[in-house]
Amino acid sequence: MQTPAINVQNLSKNYGTVQAVDDVTFQVAHGELVGFLGPNGAGKSTCMRILTTWLPASSGYAWLNGYDVMYQSMEVRKCIGYLPESVPVYGEMRVREYLAYRAKLKGVERRGRTARIDNCMAKCRVKEVQNRLLSTLSKGYRQRVGLADALLADPPILIFDEPTSGLDPVQIGETLATIKELGGQHTILFSTHVLPEVEKVYDRVIIIDKGRIKYDETKKAIDAQEASYLLDIRGPADAVTAFLREQPEVASVEAAPIESDLTAFEVRSRDRKDYREALAGRIATKGWGLRRVEVKRPSLEAIFNNVVQQRYQVEVAGSPAPTEPDKTPAA
Ligand SMILES: Nc1ncnc2c1ncn2[C@@H]1O[C@H](COP(=O)(O)OP(=O)(O)OP(=O)(O)O)[C@@H](O)[C@H]1O
Ligand SMILES: [Mg+2]
Repeated sequence: MQTPAINVQNLSKNYGTVQAVDDVTFQVAHGELVGFLGPNGAGKSTCMRILTTWLPASSGYAWLNGYDVMYQSMEVRKCIGYLPESVPVYGEMRVREYLAYRAKLKGVERRGRTARIDNCMAKCRVKEVQNRLLSTLSKGYRQRVGLADALLADPPILIFDEPTSGLDPVQIGETLATIKELGGQHTILFSTHVLPEVEKVYDRVIIIDKGRIKYDETKKAIDAQEASYLLDIRGPADAVTAFLREQPEVASVEAAPIESDLTAFEVRSRDRKDYREALAGRIATKGWGLRRVEVKRPSLEAIFNNVVQQRYQVEVAGSPAPTEPDKTPAA
């Protein structure tokens, strides 16, 4: 089996009594584009800092392209491009000057260095500010310079900690398009809070909460989950509801009135097949008017809320969340 691009085994990190990362295990295959999601304080940045060798783990292991983050940090750094949560600012440097300095530091060959810098500036749309002092850039532009920096040495693995933070909606769209484009040639792990946007680009999503992985699923598997159908039907609501409930493909029906004889139904299907035509055909034979048929797939936002809220439900119910013995050895 090919070595995974990112291999994390039982990784934990505690800051004193705060368990920021708690026994995290996952692998990312070469070329995969993974959205790393979680509420504030979930442990995303801590995890990413460990993977990029900027922070030692309390216990556990991580390898990037087969290199150990603890013992082979120089090799690891050569194969990653990292956009940290807060981009370091060298305020007195101009954008091009800064990128040239970073390219040299990263060992980008002198021959072709200028072309590489131009290429990365174009990709991250910072060419128009190349002669500006970093201290005079807006947050969004600084973020884009950080992204260009991460791409300079054309590393196989990219780790972006909230690449869209501080960007306006247009820039968010553009940055996500850049990430998607990079996804073909690089392995990418990126964290974000903008779920509807992630939906457009990711191959796989990992949700972390309170330092633990709560969800790990591919887009393909999420897209194949049982769908709901949204049906607006003109007809006697009670009779239509009863009829829908009788259909063998239907697991549950919810009804909400729109007008006197028009009702919005949300129908859950029993399996993953698409029953739209079958249901529409049978509704027509009853003489009822079908105003809308739509498939509703679970959104990332719904999945996220479901995963993260389960925790709050446990806590609110009065039974304290289960605690486990501290497995972390003293640092
Ligand atoms: N240097 C530190 N010292 C002490 N505690 C820390 C430190 N850095 C992070 N933490 C704590 O570790 C936990 C995880 O923080 P982390 O920054 O990894 O979360 P995050 O998922 O990146 O959150 P956000 O979405 O807000 O960026 C939090 O409880 C945070 O307060
Ligand atoms: Mg963070």
